[in-house]
Amino acid sequence: MRRGFQAVYSRAPESSARARRAVIAVAGEWLTSNALDDLVLAVGEAVANAIVHGKGSSLTVSCYRDRDRVIVDVQDEGLGFALKGPLISLPAPMSQSGYGLYIMQNLADAVEILDDGRCIRIVKCVPVAFEQSHEDVV
Ligand SMILES: Nc1ncnc2c1ncn2[C@@H]1O[C@H](COP(=O)(O)OP(=O)(O)OP(=O)(O)O)[C@@H](O)[C@H]1O
Ligand SMILES: [Mg+2]
Repeated sequence: MRRGFQAVYSRAPESSARARRAVIAVAGEWLTSNALDDLVLAVGEAVANAIVHGKGSSLTVSCYRDRDRVIVDVQDEGLGFALKGPLISLPAPMSQSGYGLYIMQNLADAVEILDDGRCIRIVKCVPVAFEQSHEDVV
């Protein structure tokens, strides 16, 4: 069964905090606090990219649970992008940008670039032990 939310935000800086708060409220039910922190930081990078590199007036964030995975999709209305190679690598040491995708990849269990770069999917797995202990107390 799928549960979660989908929300449309303006392509404005404050939307990053709004999206992070919404993800905390929903995914906090499914993840340990460390995993949730990782997910939320990754979502902040994806939303920042949609704001900075996207186009149009809005972006859409969906957060849902699909079996043992928590999935956040950040969709924008821009031109998208393609990776130059198969891997997302650390930028050169003196680089002032190019960290966001690398950070997402290191915090998430998976990062998928969908819709030709207009949608970033961030996946975090639900730890089995957490799920069992959580269900025990409900
Ligand atoms: N939503 C997006 N729409 C279009 N291009 C994007 C999008 N997200 C990422 N990109 C492209 O991928 C590049 C790498 O993104 P990444 O987040 O790693 O770095 P950055 O945004 O340039 O810098 P930083 O995140 O360190 O501030 C961007 O410079 C941009 O060209
Ligand atoms: Mg970025």
